Amino acid sequence: SPSDPDLVARARAAKEKLGDRVFVLGHHYQRDEVIQFADVTGDSFKLARDAAARPEAEYIVFCGVHFMAESADILTTDAQAVVLPDLAAGCSMADMATAEQVAECWDVLTEAGVADQVVPVSYMNSSADIKAFTGKHGGTICTSSNAKRALEWAFEQGEKILFLPDQHLGRNTAVRDMGMSLDDCVLYNPHKPNGGLTAEQLRNAKMILWRGHCSVHGRFSVESVEDVRARMPGVNVLVHPECKHEVVAAADYVGSTEYIIKALEAAPRGSKWAIGTELNLVRRLANRFASEDKEIVFLDKTVCFCSTMNRIDLPHLVWTLESLADGKLVNRIEVDPETEKYAKLALERMLALP
Ligand code: 13P
Ligand code: SF4
Repeated sequence: SPSDPDLVARARAAKEKLGDRVFVLGHHYQRDEVIQFADVTGDSFKLARDAAARPEAEYIVFCGVHFMAESADILTTDAQAVVLPDLAAGCSMADMATAEQVAECWDVLTEAGVADQVVPVSYMNSSADIKAFTGKHGGTICTSSNAKRALEWAFEQGEKILFLPDQHLGRNTAVRDMGMSLDDCVLYNPHKPNGGLTAEQLRNAKMILWRGHCSVHGRFSVESVEDVRARMPGVNVLVHPECKHEVVAAADYVGSTEYIIKALEAAPRGSKWAIGTELNLVRRLANRFASEDKEIVFLDKTVCFCSTMNRIDLPHLVWTLESLADGKLVNRIEVDPETEKYAKLALERMLALP
């Protein structure tokens, strides 16, 4: 739906008043009405780097979800304030691994006698607490655009990886990119005693996958891939690595949001694409490339927006920018110094990956 012209004018005026004091980041899953005010757009890796590269901006307004704003706070200076336009914009996947559960998991690994061989690798989509745990235990963060390099690095540090919290990204990267077998992976269920695993299973595993998933990408199915292939002969199926392993195996291409955009930019005229990722991005890409005669459809009509990404809307952005322009610092996301110290270590290991 087109944005309310009054709100557009107010957002523009507040942003102009703030000038270089504010820098607005927009994740690819954000609504069009919000993306039009982003100074940069990107996937979570690019946005983390972009936030760190703006030390002169007093306010970083993060149009994305909570874990992204935390990461930006960790990577920016103490003088800068990171602001999330709606504090309810969380991520159900990040919530699937709490600090208590992960500490308990480490005890289980210790009791099984494997903890000293384990290197944690945590997906960007995790809380600052989990990132700090990762840094403390010698591990790194990864995103969907550098997961393979992160696993390669981690296997130079130790024999086993504890991958948090997205089982699908972990499994897909291990099997698709690293040539491991499904049998090399075990699933740690934080709701079961000992994660539902025996000490022997933990000793034999190379990848210990946390039982978390994305509620949006987890809904794409092999049937949706088969249906679109039947409907659109010659279609290229391109999905995000947060999709289930069998969906990724049935697809032609797999990659992060940034990869998806680059693949469509490079695609020949007349090509057809079915995309398995969040709907705001797919719609925007379908509109953008329609004039180049590239047909882009959403992989599965029953899958919807990411509801928490969508919480950031134009009214929240207007309220945020007007408050900042009036000298009121609202919705600041601030990670405590102790957590920040170790989380930063893990994030910096990621930024230093070759
Ligand atoms: P990327 O933008 O890194 O591909 O991540 C997708 C996602 O789910 C962000 O929440
Ligand atoms: Fe979290 Fe999935 Fe939404 Fe990304 S798309 S913010 S992983 S729930």
